[in-house]
Amino acid sequence: MVEAAARQGIERLIARASGPLRGAVRAPGDKSISHRALILGGLAQGETRIEGLLEGQDVLHTAEAMRAFGAEVRRLEDGGWRVLGSGRLESPAAPVDCGNAGTGVRLLMGAAAGQDVEARFDGDASLRTRPMARVIAPLTQMGAVVRASEGGRLPLSLKGGRLTGIAYRLPVASAQVKSAVLLAGLGAAGETTVIEPEATRDHTERMLGAFGVRLRSDTDAAGARRLRLRGGQGLRGAHIAVPGDPSSAAFPLVAGLIVPGSEVRVEGVLLNPLRRGLFDTLREMGAELDISNLRDGGGEPVADLTARASRLKGVVVPPERAPSMIDEYPILAVVAAFAEGPTTMRGIGELRVKESDRIALMAEGLRACGVEVEEAPDGLIVQGRGRPPRGGASVRTAGDHRIAMAHLVLGLAAEAAVRVDQPGMIATSFPGFVALMRGLGADLGPD
Ligand code: S3P
Repeated sequence: MVEAAARQGIERLIARASGPLRGAVRAPGDKSISHRALILGGLAQGETRIEGLLEGQDVLHTAEAMRAFGAEVRRLEDGGWRVLGSGRLESPAAPVDCGNAGTGVRLLMGAAAGQDVEARFDGDASLRTRPMARVIAPLTQMGAVVRASEGGRLPLSLKGGRLTGIAYRLPVASAQVKSAVLLAGLGAAGETTVIEPEATRDHTERMLGAFGVRLRSDTDAAGARRLRLRGGQGLRGAHIAVPGDPSSAAFPLVAGLIVPGSEVRVEGVLLNPLRRGLFDTLREMGAELDISNLRDGGGEPVADLTARASRLKGVVVPPERAPSMIDEYPILAVVAAFAEGPTTMRGIGELRVKESDRIALMAEGLRACGVEVEEAPDGLIVQGRGRPPRGGASVRTAGDHRIAMAHLVLGLAAEAAVRVDQPGMIATSFPGFVALMRGLGADLGPD
């Protein structure tokens, strides 16, 4: 439906107050793990099979990019994906278009830097505004040659090869930067060390192990995690089962919490400790959110989550929890609007350089829906009134998929309908969002 929205030029989606939402669904595959499976598969020698790959626009751009780097990437009839790599990358003939995907471009830059290739990288209007200096700096220190547009932005060209390992302390808590340095380190002489003062999602580290790469990790005297990788290790094709994306599961689950009388189950959700911050926060707010059937899914913890309509109270979210729920603040801000009392979110300045300035756009959208919001340079305070907000607004999303989905979920429980623009962008991370929500009983569709 969302892809259809893009194709048919539907300009707006509208969400209206809905009856109880009920049912069990599966979230689409995890976006972070999907990008990594394609990239590591392309770097590896031999065949990689991927089950449950997210077929969102961001990941499809990475699939196309790996083809341009010389890997054979194919969707199989059973819905699985097959990547056949030769153990080395080739220079792409044309600029690599990463679409809207920060993860795609930053990880691909790291992978390319470790190889004897030259590549140009580009993306859509949003990606062209996002900071790339955070990856250019360490890659250049390792010996890559990068020529970027003004302000360290896309489009840029990168010449990789003949790198030397470095010890790099992450100046921002970013799994993308960590991953770019580790991927470059695979092709560097000597050892590459990444030191992360704040732990960020560890999918790259986990998956490198599955591809036969040895990576050592310990904690330094100051409590920072240190990851060490020796260059020149070859990757062997692997079998990757992609679990459901907690960042996408968040939308139907939150809808289940705020639409009266609802009970929504999302099955097979990734519950990696470095990704579950939203679920812990929701429980602190009083959410009836049950975790069941906790199991291992391809080396990652996976569970079924059930949300029941709940009375919620505002909380202070510990700033140190931010990396484990960085993409979930837009939907948390919506939950906060229904809770009793203020919810304080601090230490989230990184939200200003995501697909949009998410602090500014959430403040703007929630205010338009009648919610009292205070904005800080690195945070947001939402004053909940313990009852549904007015809604009744047309919300500007600036093409940000999560801003769109967050406000649509708000519209399902607000007094008056909520409209969002650029609905086609939802397909970057959650193709099938509208159909899935309608299947649960949501009154959601083209305006
Ligand atoms: C991601 C890391 C996070 C997150 C993004 C996915 C990843 O970005 O916001 O959606 O897959 O490594 P940062 O590394 O910029 O924090």
